[in-house]
Amino acid sequence: MSNAIESVLTERRRFPPPAEFAAAAHLGTWEGLLELEEEARKNPEAFWAARASELWWDHRWHTVLQWQAPDARWFVGGTTNVCVNCVDRHAASWRRNKAALLWEGEPGDTRVLTYGQLHREVQKTANALLALGVSSGDFVAIYLPMVPEAAIAMLACARIGAPHTVVFGGFSAEALADRLRDSRAKLVITADGGWRRGAVVPLKDNVDKAIVDTEVRNVLVVRRTNSAVVWDPKRDHWWHETVDRAAPIHRAHAHDSEHPLFSLYTSGTTGKPKGILHTTGGYLTGAAYSSRLVFDLRDEDVFWCTADIGWVTGHSYVVYGPLANGATVLMYEGAPNQPGPDRFWDIIDRWRVSVFYTAPTAIRAFMRWGDEWPARHDLSSLRLLGSVGEPINPEAWMWYRSRIGGDRCPIVDTWWQTETGSIMISPLPGATPTKPGSATRALPGYDIDVVRKDGTSCAPNEGGFLAIRRPWPSMLRTIYGDHERFTKTYFGEIAGMYFAGDGARRDEDGYFWIMGRVDDVINVAGHRLSTMEIESALVSHPKVAEAAVVGRPDDLKGQAIVAFVTPRSGVSADEALATELRAHVATQIGALARPEEIRFADALPKTRSGKIMRRLLREVASGSTTRGDTTTLEDQGVLERLAQSFAHED
Ligand code: PRX
Repeated sequence: MSNAIESVLTERRRFPPPAEFAAAAHLGTWEGLLELEEEARKNPEAFWAARASELWWDHRWHTVLQWQAPDARWFVGGTTNVCVNCVDRHAASWRRNKAALLWEGEPGDTRVLTYGQLHREVQKTANALLALGVSSGDFVAIYLPMVPEAAIAMLACARIGAPHTVVFGGFSAEALADRLRDSRAKLVITADGGWRRGAVVPLKDNVDKAIVDTEVRNVLVVRRTNSAVVWDPKRDHWWHETVDRAAPIHRAHAHDSEHPLFSLYTSGTTGKPKGILHTTGGYLTGAAYSSRLVFDLRDEDVFWCTADIGWVTGHSYVVYGPLANGATVLMYEGAPNQPGPDRFWDIIDRWRVSVFYTAPTAIRAFMRWGDEWPARHDLSSLRLLGSVGEPINPEAWMWYRSRIGGDRCPIVDTWWQTETGSIMISPLPGATPTKPGSATRALPGYDIDVVRKDGTSCAPNEGGFLAIRRPWPSMLRTIYGDHERFTKTYFGEIAGMYFAGDGARRDEDGYFWIMGRVDDVINVAGHRLSTMEIESALVSHPKVAEAAVVGRPDDLKGQAIVAFVTPRSGVSADEALATELRAHVATQIGALARPEEIRFADALPKTRSGKIMRRLLREVASGSTTRGDTTTLEDQGVLERLAQSFAHED
């Protein structure tokens, strides 16, 4: 049977929530789900006020929502503290001696922090940050591996009202410098290095290069790999000296509900990444609500989200969402195949992980590595599986369900974005029948639709744009420093609603099928990248005259980066140049943006008005590979048409 036909047949299968799971779930019936949806629809503000009331507030808000499109203010007049919600209130309860963080480093070292210990650490860190001159409102950049200090640093920043901007450790010094400049960060928290596939990632060296010409005055350094680092005693401070010596008591003040909590840079359709800004009360309400409902979180769970804290998934589902619920979170530092392809299954087995949340790219890699690796381990502790970051193809979904979930665990395919702050579309594991490859329905409280360019709803199975009709608590508030771009990007495309940048359709049951981006953003191995940003990196090389970057379907990564490059005259277009350019992109952005393929061309195809014909290039790029399992041919066609109508480019 051809992959495409098999894919369609698999898509038609339906899986009701397993009875045993449903019986014990917080929300375990379809009727219960419909009731909650109805409650939210009838009175959205009362619905969200009830969700926010589950958190600790110093002062209650006087107005739930002030909305003047595109500007939302949630829980207006309310004051709270995210760190107190995630740590102090549990440390003051029976959870004091419950594990908050279970941590495993790539070399195999481990640490466990109870809520009581985490409380002590965040207080000391808050005091250390204050002593280093950070005050409320100053941005702190965090460039750390997945070590407990990463979560501690984020929580300590939240505690003192200093918004953090976490930069993924895989980004280069150049990319870090851009983010430091844009956020005007005063302090960077980093490590001497991080472990990745047995090698050291030189984080401190990158910081040294990046902070030239920025406002950074102090660097706080965690000792992780014992690597030699260059030290500037006036500027650099060891964590184990500064934090460990700080006073263990810090009285937390409450911050305004709309006080900035963090900015996180993500790729858009221009060359410059945008700082997505999230605020306090609304963000935490969304993160806490979705964690509890989608993952059916309970006190005895061991919750493992494999995302790095450098991405929004790591913010909402490694740190804020689960900790706000008093859950036990597992954090792992390294690669999934270090030392062998069964590292994840070994971790699940030893730590008795019960909820596991990862990305389709990882699942496809595990499939490729072979069934024998998970089969070596006892995975019976698992009760729920999640997927995030890119469309999951039905074959990967089925493999995940049977080989990892033992045909026993429901799967939640969760759609959301850096901008939405928390999960927006997902099954509820005890209530929603699932279909492999569909993220199913919007969570109660969210008004999401698939629309045409004019804002009218699409008919069942008609491809259109994914849009959100009403504001929601954890929505981004702005693009830091560029409110106009915020308005134009998200509220300027489809009148009166938030435009997500994704193509989608809803089937006859109203289930969402996400097809992928319709703009110039590509999703490579679950990482969001801008084609323009990679193009800018390429043309910054002295041997390049012009470049165009497109994505092509890839069986493993979802999409692969293909760059079409016109070299300057007199430069020979050969393999050596391709290698040089790939390395150049890695230096400019990071290894994650390195093109899979570089094709040299004398000239790039252009319209009469001089615009590069990307559609043509996408066709050329994908023509070289067989289209595999990742997306059905039909969806590719619809997406291509949507992209054209969106971009008016050729
Ligand atoms: O295209 C969608 C895809 O990832 C984009 C958001 O990327 P980012 O802001 O980096 O956040 C990733 C993690 C939340 C979306 O516009 N995406 C995310 N989840 C899914 C998805 N596509 C299909 N199915 C999903 N479950």
